[in-house]
Amino acid sequence: MNWLVAALTVCVLAPTAHCASNAIAWCYHLPSCNDATWPTIATKFCNGTRQSPINIVSASAKPNSNLTAFTFNNYNSSTALKKIQNSENTVKVTFGSGVGISGGDLSEAYDSLQFHLHWGNGSSSPGSEHTVDGKRYPMELHIVNIKSSYKGNTTQAIADSTGLAALGFFIEEMSGNATGQPASWRTLTSYLANITNSGQSVPMAPGISLDDLLVGVDRTRYYRYLGSLTTPACNEAVVWTVFKDSIKVSKDLIDLFSTTLHVSNSTSPLMINVFRNIQPALPVTTQRASSSSTSTTCYSLALMALSLVLGRSWSQ
Ligand SMILES: *[C@@H]1O[C@H](CO)[C@@H](O)[C@H](O)[C@H]1NC(C)=O
Ligand SMILES: *[C@@H]1O[C@H](CO)[C@@H](O)[C@H](O)[C@H]1NC(C)=O
Ligand SMILES: *[C@@H]1O[C@H](CO)[C@@H](O)[C@H](O)[C@H]1NC(C)=O
Ligand SMILES: *[C@@H]1O[C@H](CO)[C@@H](O)[C@H](O)[C@H]1NC(C)=O
Ligand SMILES: *[C@@H]1O[C@H](CO)[C@@H](O)[C@H](O)[C@H]1NC(C)=O
Ligand SMILES: *[C@@H]1O[C@H](CO)[C@@H](O)[C@H](O)[C@H]1NC(C)=O
Ligand SMILES: *[C@@H]1O[C@H](CO)[C@@H](O)[C@H](O)[C@H]1NC(C)=O
Ligand SMILES: *[C@@H]1O[C@H](CO)[C@@H](O)[C@H](O)[C@H]1NC(C)=O
Ligand SMILES: [Zn+2]
Repeated sequence: MNWLVAALTVCVLAPTAHCASNAIAWCYHLPSCNDATWPTIATKFCNGTRQSPINIVSASAKPNSNLTAFTFNNYNSSTALKKIQNSENTVKVTFGSGVGISGGDLSEAYDSLQFHLHWGNGSSSPGSEHTVDGKRYPMELHIVNIKSSYKGNTTQAIADSTGLAALGFFIEEMSGNATGQPASWRTLTSYLANITNSGQSVPMAPGISLDDLLVGVDRTRYYRYLGSLTTPACNEAVVWTVFKDSIKVSKDLIDLFSTTLHVSNSTSPLMINVFRNIQPALPVTTQRASSSSTSTTCYSLALMALSLVLGRSWSQ
C-alpha cells in the first residue's frame, strides 16, 4: 500500500538535505533505503506492532459472519479512472469523485481514491505483498479508500486506526498461451510506455472500469485484518481486505511492469521487486468455514430447481 508517495517522491534518490524535513527517503532497490532500513529510518511507525503486509495462514483465519458483501459505487463507471502516473515506487491510477465502498463490516462508507500495484521481476519472480499459506503471487493491486467523513483529509485518516481501508487483489498468470488478455489489462498496460520515467503521468481515456480490471474475483470471499500502510511512514491506520480469488492476467502483460518502468530516468534501474517483506503475524478473520460452500451449492441448486418449477407454472 503506497500512500504518501507524492510527497516523498523527490527524496528517494536525492540526498536527504534536499528533502522536506518530515519526508522519509525510502526505496526498494538500494541497501541504504530499502525495507530492511525502514524501522530505523522511519521509527514512527515502521517498527510498530501492527505492520503490513503479512502471511495469511488460511487455516488460522477465524470465521466471522459479520464479514458481509460490499457495495461498490461507480466501480462500473468507464470514466472513473482519470490519471495514470509513474510515482517512482509504483504505478498509480487516480479516480474521479463518486467512487466508493460500503458494507463488508466497515464502520462507515469510504471514498475510493486510487489504486497502485506491487510486483516482482516478471511473472516468474513474484512480488505480491501479502502471501497466503506462504504463496507469493506475481502482483498485487491495492485500492486505497478513506473514511467518507474525513472528506479526503489524509492527515485525519492516518491518525485514526481505521481511517483507511485497503482492498488487496492478487494477480496471477493466466493459464494457457494467451497474450494481451484480458482486454481491460491490455488497455491499462498500454499506458506504461507513456510513463517510463518517474514523475510522468498521462490522462486516461474513458473506456475501462474498476469492475473490468477486477475480473473473475468473487468479492464476497476475503480475509480481514487491521494493519498498516506498507510504505513509510507505515501508519497503523488501515483496515485490510485481501480477496481470496486472483485476477488472471496473461504473462506478457504482467512482464510489462518490470520491463518498462524506471525508478527515475531512462538510464536509472527498472522498477522491480516493489514490495515490502512479510511482517509478524496478526489476527485474521474471514467468512464462515469452507463447509458453507457446499451448502451454498445445494442452496443454489435448490433455487434453480425451484425457478424451473416456477418458470414452468408461469409459462403455463
Ligand atoms: C520504535 O522506535 C522508537 C524510536 O527508536 C522507539 O521509541 C519505540 O519504542 C520503537 N517501537 C517498537 C515497537 O520497537
Ligand atoms: C458482529 O457484529 C456485532 C454487532 O456489531 C458485534 O456485537 C459482534 O461482536 C460482531 N462479531 C464478531 C465476531 O466480530
Ligand atoms: C452501474 O451500476 C448502477 C447500480 O447497479 C446502475 O444504476 C448504473 O446504471 C450502472 N452504470 C453503468 C455505467 O453501467
Ligand atoms: C530480472 O529479470 C531479468 C529478466 O529475466 C533479468 O535479466 C534480471 O537480472 C532480473 N533482475 C533481478 C534483480 O533479479
Ligand atoms: C486536515 O485535518 C487537520 C487536522 O484536523 C487540519 O489541521 C488540516 O487543516 C486539515 N487539512 C485540510 C486540507 O483541510
Ligand atoms: C502453448 O504453446 C505450446 C508451444 O507452442 C504448445 O505446445 C502448448 O500446447 C500450448 N498450450 C496451450 C494450453 O495452448
Ligand atoms: C502515448 O505515447 C504515444 C506515442 O508517443 C502517443 O501517440 C500517445 O498519444 C500517448 N498517449 C497518451 C495518453 O498520452
Ligand atoms: C538519470 O538519473 C540518474 C540517477 O538515477 C542521474 O545520475 C542522471 O544524471 C540522470 N540523467 C539525466 C539525463 O537526467
Ligand atoms: Zn500498496
